[in-house]
Parts: sequence; C-alpha cells; structure tokens
Amino acid sequence: MLFFNRKAHKAPTADRTVPQHIAIIMDGNGRWAKRRGLPRSAGHAAGSEVFRTIATYCREIGVKYLTVYAFSTENWRRSEEEVGALMALFEKYLHEAIETMAKDHIRLHFFGDLSRLSPTLRELIAKTDAISEQYEGFQANICLNYGGRDEILHAARAFARQCVEGKCTPDSLDEAAFSDLLYSAGVPDPELVIRPGGEKRTSNFLMWQSAYSEFYFTDVLWPDFTPHDIDKAIESFLRRDRRFGGVKA
Ligand code: FPP
Repeated sequence: MLFFNRKAHKAPTADRTVPQHIAIIMDGNGRWAKRRGLPRSAGHAAGSEVFRTIATYCREIGVKYLTVYAFSTENWRRSEEEVGALMALFEKYLHEAIETMAKDHIRLHFFGDLSRLSPTLRELIAKTDAISEQYEGFQANICLNYGGRDEILHAARAFARQCVEGKCTPDSLDEAAFSDLLYSAGVPDPELVIRPGGEKRTSNFLMWQSAYSEFYFTDVLWPDFTPHDIDKAIESFLRRDRRFGGVKA
C-alpha cells in the first residue's frame, strides 16, 4: 500500500507533511530501452507515460509544483533521430494535454529558452499557457531546452538591460529580484530534488533554485519509477534535518 494512500492521506499540505515543490531529473530512459533491445525513443515514450502517472500522483497527495527536466540545453548533442523523437513526443504530449488539462486539473508551465523549439511546439506551448491561466492549483513545470547556467545568464542579461535602460542600478539587485528574472519566477524553490537512474549529479538542473534543496538519488530507472518511489523519496525527505546554514536549536 502506498505511504500517501489516497484515502488515508488527508489535506497533506495543511500540515506540510508533503513538500510543496518536488523537482525530478527523469534519467535512465535510454538504459531502460537498451535492456529490452528497444530503441532509445521507446524509453522516452515509456518515460513520458511515467511523467503523467507521477504528475497525477503528486497532485493527489497535495504537492503544489512538480518540475521535470525533459530536455536540457546539452541534449541537442544527441543524434538527430533521438532529438527528433523527443520533440515528436513533446508535441504528442501537448496535443493530448490540451484535451485533458481541464479534466485532470493540471496546469502546465515551461522553463527554458523556448526560442529554439519548432514553431509548432511553441504554438502548442502558447495554447497550454492560455488554458493554464484559467485554473489554479497543481502546476507541472516542464524544462525544455533548459540549462541552469543558461537560465542564470539569461537573467543576468535581462538585469543588465534594465540597468542600461535606467530602470535599476547594480546595487538594487538582491536575491528576490534576481529570482524574479529566472524562468521559475513566482515558483517557490523545490524542497526536494529526485534523481532516478543511478547518477549522483545535478546536470545543470535548477542550479539557483536548488541551493537548499534536499536531494534523493535512486538506482530505479525513470520508466520503472512509480508513486511508491515518490513515497520513499518523501519519507527520506521527512527524516532530513534542514538547517539552512543555521544550527539546531
Ligand atoms: C534522460 O535519460 C532523459 C531525457 C533526456 C529525456 C526525458 C524525457 C522524457 C522522460 C519524456 C518526458 C515527456 C514529457 C511530455 C514531459 P537518458 O536518455 O539520458 O537515459 P540514459 O542515461 O539511460 O541514457
């Protein structure tokens, strides 16, 4: 039985037993496919279904934001075939999401430099943005052509431009003002970052936002990841002693 069983687990956000923001590096699709003698794209397709399941589960247990790393600024280095398959998968997912978002109560938001995506993908993103604006509640942030360093550079350039235009001075910049220039503006930092797939690194994901996040690493490959693994990550999170640089009272 799941730890955060749907019936047993009431109003989890009220007593803050569940992190309000979970972020996930969805890793291991390629190895999952290889072990089955399938093309890497089959691993990504399976991973996309797992994303749906996990997003639904996170919403049900009271998580407010789920941010997933779907395509990094470095992923363009993969074969044309794999990049094409991933882009086709994102298009397929967005077409389906446009039909189901209202029913599923899932708002979608995108972090990343979207200018490099195809016009079709950008149009679909604009449609899901417009639908999302009509709702409140659970929000899934999908990182597309996203890199933590790229995001920080993008924000630094935006701030420099504002200074040149006389709208601010270098000394007026503080952490809150800088956060507002990131792709994640308005979204609280993730308390918990999960990385399936066995690697123990952050791979340029949410570099600014994860400064005080708790990390949970598991060898489970993303296409095998289940709501039970979310429960295990949250259980581990709840045992952590978060001091934010201070000392325990
Ligand atoms: C990393 O695993 C995974 C990716 C680069 C793609 C992640 C994309 C999805 C799970 C599809 C999500 C779709 C939506 C709609 C959000 P890898 O391929 O590097 O795995 P490997 O380390 O085993 O090779």
